[in-house]
Amino acid sequence: MSDGAVNEASDEAEDNGTTNSRRYFLIQATSAVAAVGAVGAAWPFVKYWTPSAKAKAAGAPVRVDISKLAPGEMLSPIVAWRGKPIFVVYRDQASIDALTTDVSGLADPDSANPEMQPEFAVNPWRSERPEIGIYLGICTHLGCSPKHVVTDNFEESGQGGFFCPCHGSKFDLAGRVVSGVPAPDNLEVPPYRFESDTVIVIG
Ligand code: FES
Repeated sequence: MSDGAVNEASDEAEDNGTTNSRRYFLIQATSAVAAVGAVGAAWPFVKYWTPSAKAKAAGAPVRVDISKLAPGEMLSPIVAWRGKPIFVVYRDQASIDALTTDVSGLADPDSANPEMQPEFAVNPWRSERPEIGIYLGICTHLGCSPKHVVTDNFEESGQGGFFCPCHGSKFDLAGRVVSGVPAPDNLEVPPYRFESDTVIVIG
């Protein structure tokens, strides 16, 4: 091969090498730009899907200290979970007994509607522990907040319960609705667990 031909071949090889490295560079650069673009395009959705700190706080579980609650009382001030009032009552033994015997005037004494309580609360007191009752303080008729009634004889047992002043619905101390009132369901039981003997985590 002449010197000219050798030089030509070497120039061509050099050109090929340069072209290959340019191509490699372009592929890398394009991929990087595409990746950045994809992240940029997805960011609004990621932001949309990620709940804000405020939203997280609003839906977060609530810890409730019941160490100062005495038998016969309802926790005051009333705590809120997800913006809804939560009634926490401490029932004495007479009230617990009445919940198992005084059921004739109730619309759903056995908590047959599964939407109104977690499974652990399907029992006469509609709670994990018979003495502590935890209910959403929202009437199942049109959403007013019932009042805790301690010894008013508005129901047979005289053990009190909850009375909704808006249209007169009544619930016993387990939040079970009395027959013949406007409210169609028992008060809802929120999800909760006992963190200790005196601290409950709601939600
Ligand atoms: S809202 Fe309670 S009885 Fe109507």
